[in-house]
Amino acid sequence: MTIHYEKRGDIAILQADNPPVNALGIDVRAGLVAGLERATQEGAKALLIYGAGRTWFAGADIREFGKPLKDPILPDVCTAIEAASIPVVAALHGTVLGGGLEVALSSHFRIAVPGTRLGLPEVTLGILPGAGGTQRLPRLTGFEKAIEMITSGKPIKADEAKTLGIIDRVTDGTPLEIGLAYAQELVDQGATPCPVGALPAPDPIDFDAARAKVEKRARGQLSPVTAFDAVRAVSQMGFTEGLGEERRLFQSLMKTMQREGLIHAFFAERQVSKLPELAGVAPRELDVLGVIGGGTMGAGIATAALLAGLQVRMIEMSEASAEAAKGRIAGNLQGALKRGKISAEAFAQMTETALSCTTEYADLADADIIIEAVFEDMDVKKQVFAAIDAVAKPDAILASNTSYLDINEMAAGMSRPADFIGLHFFSPAHVMRLLEVVVGTQTAPDVVATGFALSKRLGKVAVRAGVCDGFIGNRILSTYRTAADHMILDGASPFQIDRALEAFGLAMGPFAVSDLAGLDIGWANRKRLAPTRDPRERVPTFADKLCEDGHFGQKTGRGYYIYEGRTKTENPDVLPLIEAERAALGLRPHSFTDEEIVARYMAAMVNEAAKVVGEGIARRPLDVDVTLLFGYGFPRYHGGPLKWADMQGLPGILNTITELAAQDAYFWQPAPLLQQLVAEGRDFDSLNKEAS
Ligand code: CAA
Repeated sequence: MTIHYEKRGDIAILQADNPPVNALGIDVRAGLVAGLERATQEGAKALLIYGAGRTWFAGADIREFGKPLKDPILPDVCTAIEAASIPVVAALHGTVLGGGLEVALSSHFRIAVPGTRLGLPEVTLGILPGAGGTQRLPRLTGFEKAIEMITSGKPIKADEAKTLGIIDRVTDGTPLEIGLAYAQELVDQGATPCPVGALPAPDPIDFDAARAKVEKRARGQLSPVTAFDAVRAVSQMGFTEGLGEERRLFQSLMKTMQREGLIHAFFAERQVSKLPELAGVAPRELDVLGVIGGGTMGAGIATAALLAGLQVRMIEMSEASAEAAKGRIAGNLQGALKRGKISAEAFAQMTETALSCTTEYADLADADIIIEAVFEDMDVKKQVFAAIDAVAKPDAILASNTSYLDINEMAAGMSRPADFIGLHFFSPAHVMRLLEVVVGTQTAPDVVATGFALSKRLGKVAVRAGVCDGFIGNRILSTYRTAADHMILDGASPFQIDRALEAFGLAMGPFAVSDLAGLDIGWANRKRLAPTRDPRERVPTFADKLCEDGHFGQKTGRGYYIYEGRTKTENPDVLPLIEAERAALGLRPHSFTDEEIVARYMAAMVNEAAKVVGEGIARRPLDVDVTLLFGYGFPRYHGGPLKWADMQGLPGILNTITELAAQDAYFWQPAPLLQQLVAEGRDFDSLNKEAS
């Protein structure tokens, strides 16, 4: 039983009890309808609905999506509640989200405890509020606010909901107490039901301008614009017809791959920290975090740690650099202060009490975890760890923020290799949510568990990675980035590649990203790798030529693009450089369609990702998906590269790879795991399911 019925005096009470989040699964929906009928049959004068545990209904049960829905479906439950002959009171607490808010909106009176959050996050799952939310909310708030809430999916706090007219009252107490008191008051007043659906449509707005804004913000995602159209129906038709239109649009979104991708992302984000090796392993205590190196990365890590309430010991080489690091951290925290994320007192506490910036390794003696964020050079890192090893307390965890160096080699010289781990943050570390937890051959399980616990405390998403050059993310990046360079030699332009991939959903195309990161970085890397490079590898030189002329991208104002203020135009010098190189190599360029560009880029990404999973560097396909979603701007509505691959069909992708291998067998070696899955008629998600 997920809905418990009781009657106290004139008031019937329905308590929802479906942990953990009171999702509106079939039992809950059926229970609500049955409870409503019983209340009327037993002559109750009002009905109170509230949730047991941590929250009111946090939404539909997402696990039921994509399967045939069982009756009663949620829209019918909401219609039945709204049509009740007695007043229905919703007493809200926790997270009143999605279908949960829709049940509240179909109730006649709404009261909430302080701290309750309310929202319609459906668009973030690729759908729209499908149980009357798009038709009822605007009738309470007007179009503008309803469009903002529904198309952004962002929740609001109870006080704002009260101001907007979404709820009647915010009152201290338990949901049962405040709900009962309100219901009794209504009974005493002889209040009658007041359905939101009976309210008139609000004043119209400039819908075309508002739609254009939503479309721009959605960047290729369908659900916000479709949700907008559902809201607009309020101004075009009556309430009942509007519900029908909402249903039609809801069902059209349900069938999309974007919906499937977004829901995969939702569950993958929660699954990623669940690893059998961590079951029952307690993390170590963490209060004091040491950071070596106060550059952009080190300062970002320190900022994230301070914001999470940890004490931070920052170590730098000189007094001047320690001072500079302090300034960088204070600057980051100033940003949080300006945005209202922290108070002035918290800012002062973090910068004056919780943080120390010194030059003495001895100051790390009380640190529970020490993360090095120094120059990316094995010898430098080894020296740093020797110094840390000498001062760190016995149970302290030692961590490297390296983005590609071998952490087993680093551990080899230490007196405590079991306490050593890789923690690969992404820059800016106080903003980017991904953390790769890189597990060496000797890393102890409770050290891995502590990496995950730290990530959670910092509000980040941690992915477990094994040791290889670049771990999960940078290894895959290096392969698809190379595929983009090869396409240029074969005839595509960097500008077309950027445009095609931005249309696919990437925030920035690969060449615009190179300009942002600095072309000198790739240049240095190519020079470093040149002596050991396999002669079969195709390495373009057009980017080197730009660098030789002093053009490093955004920081010098010129790279693939020319930057003037906030405008970016294509650099006319780039294509002649590329043409000269093709001519020198005797290549015959051919034109690419945008689809071919996406297909090749994604084939490279999926193939390398399949190798990463096949070799055990990533435990499951979903670990790759989460890495690319949270660290590399992969569009969430495609679910991640391996979910995208499943939805496209693996045989087609393997065909593309096999065809390309005929031209460049060195680069396009099909991943054995991909071949195996195709041969067995399986997909990547079957591996996720096996692992869970
Ligand atoms: N359906 C099914 N399971 C859900 C769920 C839902 N709506 N919401 C959360 N869960 C599950 C999670 O998967 C997780 O399960 P595991 O413990 O097995 O991993 C568990 O509940 C706890 O969730 P969190 O770890 O996310 O807990 P939290 O305290 O950090 O966050 C929350 C709680 C804010 C409710 C968050 O889970 C959340 O945002 N949930 C989704 C809310 C949502 O999008 N609702 C709209 C649904 S769509 C809808 O309602 C459509 C409609 O119009 C009919």
